[in-house]
Amino acid sequence: MIFACDNAGGIGYKNGLPWPHISEDLQHFKRITENSVVIMGSNTWDSLGGLAPLKGRTNYVITSKDLSDFTGAFDCYDYTQYTMENIITAIDFRHPGKDTIIIGGKKIYDEAYKYCDTIYMTRVMDTYKCDTTVDTDMYLDGFECRSTRREMGNQHKPSISIERWERT
Ligand SMILES: NC(=O)c1ccc[n+]([C@@H]2O[C@H](COP(=O)([O-])OP(=O)(O)OC[C@H]3O[C@@H](n4cnc5c(N)ncnc54)[C@H](OP(=O)(O)O)[C@@H]3O)[C@@H](O)[C@H]2O)c1
Repeated sequence: MIFACDNAGGIGYKNGLPWPHISEDLQHFKRITENSVVIMGSNTWDSLGGLAPLKGRTNYVITSKDLSDFTGAFDCYDYTQYTMENIITAIDFRHPGKDTIIIGGKKIYDEAYKYCDTIYMTRVMDTYKCDTTVDTDMYLDGFECRSTRREMGNQHKPSISIERWERT
């Protein structure tokens, strides 16, 4: 799965990102997810606005609503009928040879982290006003950091640490 969080684990505010535009992180997100299958909750789909569905990726939405509510999504799965483990397994099975990547938000991460082998985490080195936070220690238990890349900030944008964690 892939996410970015601030120093306090904040990932969202008013169904958007809490920090100003960070182009290095958005490029990283694009590079990791392009040509892949992406899985998101309906709030995250809504938060993308006109960018949904994400181009060059196969978009799945986890929702109790209908596929017709998500124009351009490849398919959706109802979390009230299937477990997250079954949903991820089914989606993965439909796209052999492609990576399946969880792209949020909190409701999806909190269920899906148990079934992920790799966590791409961007640490945004500041604290922002957030209404959605995640427990990174819980997600990363049993993982080890395999790569870290730092990008220095300036007065307009924070420093970030782009990390890849693998299950041990
Ligand atoms: N920083 C990051 O990397 C990052 C990444 C993604 C999102 N975000 C931010 O995270 C926030 C959205 O997170 P979120 O947790 O509110 O939304 P979410 O996980 O994207 O979507 C939640 C919605 O999906 C449905 N859903 C799917 N699985 C569910 C389950 N197991 N249990 C309950 N509901 C489930 C429900 O809606 P229905 O059944 O009504 O459809 C629920 O309201 C936004 O601020 C967004 O910008 C941040």
